[in-house]
Amino acid sequence: MRFFARAPGKVIITGEHFVVHDSYALAGAINRAATVEARANDSMEIFSRNLALTASYPRKIPSSLAPIAEAAAATLDFLSLKKKVKLVIDSDIPAGSGLGSSSAVAVASVAAIFALAGEEPVKQKLVELAMISERMVHGNPSGIDPSVSSYGGVLLFRKGKAPDLLRLGRPVEFVVAYSGIVRKTSRLIKKVSSMKETLPNLFKALASSSTTLSKIAASSLTSGDLQTLGSILNFYHMILGRLGASSKVLDSMVEAALSERCLGAKLTGAGGGGCVIALPEPSASTNVLSNLSKISKEAFVARLPVEGVRIWQK
Ligand code: MEV
Repeated sequence: MRFFARAPGKVIITGEHFVVHDSYALAGAINRAATVEARANDSMEIFSRNLALTASYPRKIPSSLAPIAEAAAATLDFLSLKKKVKLVIDSDIPAGSGLGSSSAVAVASVAAIFALAGEEPVKQKLVELAMISERMVHGNPSGIDPSVSSYGGVLLFRKGKAPDLLRLGRPVEFVVAYSGIVRKTSRLIKKVSSMKETLPNLFKALASSSTTLSKIAASSLTSGDLQTLGSILNFYHMILGRLGASSKVLDSMVEAALSERCLGAKLTGAGGGGCVIALPEPSASTNVLSNLSKISKEAFVARLPVEGVRIWQK
């Protein structure tokens, strides 16, 4: 018998970076995902098809697979599962692109082990176990990425709290465009957080504004008020840029997105490189997609909501 789990990647709609400092943020699962197969094995092993790398532990663990090895060991421990396990990882989320690739892999790995153990996973437990990997990858993450991978849908999230799952007025389409520039979330978290030292009062005020804006953005999504949502996205892009999270490439992508029938656009996730999201006017996704495709490594339409982690066996 083979056991599988599939967990989606994510886009941060509003509130990235500020969410690390206790503000609310809004994020949604997307139609890109990591799939992990777990099978009983003679030894502990992880194979990543994307990285073409194997970890056989405890002897040989490449550093890029060490976070998953730690989360897998903690999961076996939590489940008191004495078996040795082989995990096979496959993902169509570009790594280091700000689309939650590491979280999706961590949540799917942990969930696949639950499936092997015959246990129905509790979503928040998956987040907790995936966070073992996420802390090793990103240093000081808020937990928003594994929460979206686990719960799916669109979440209003605050660090350390169970997320609020939004009921969307109607499905919403974002165009996601990848710059092709890989960056490190931990470095960008440090860069943005440095304003806390230099301008502590302004940073605190902005973090509070980010909570207000994320809550308004959440209401806009539930009521289907895309104009308001678009305005909020544009403001976020400039503020995140001022904090050092944007780049010339991301600014030109936002500029290109806004050239035709687009209500708002911004960088998404840690920034530095990675992706932008654009909110097209109703029925204009193809126009915005075509404009962004010309200047990005890869662009696609993400229609929200998308389900969270799923397990199955065959
Ligand atoms: C990364 O997707 C979003 C950040 O806010 C970091 C985090 O919340 O863990 C930059």
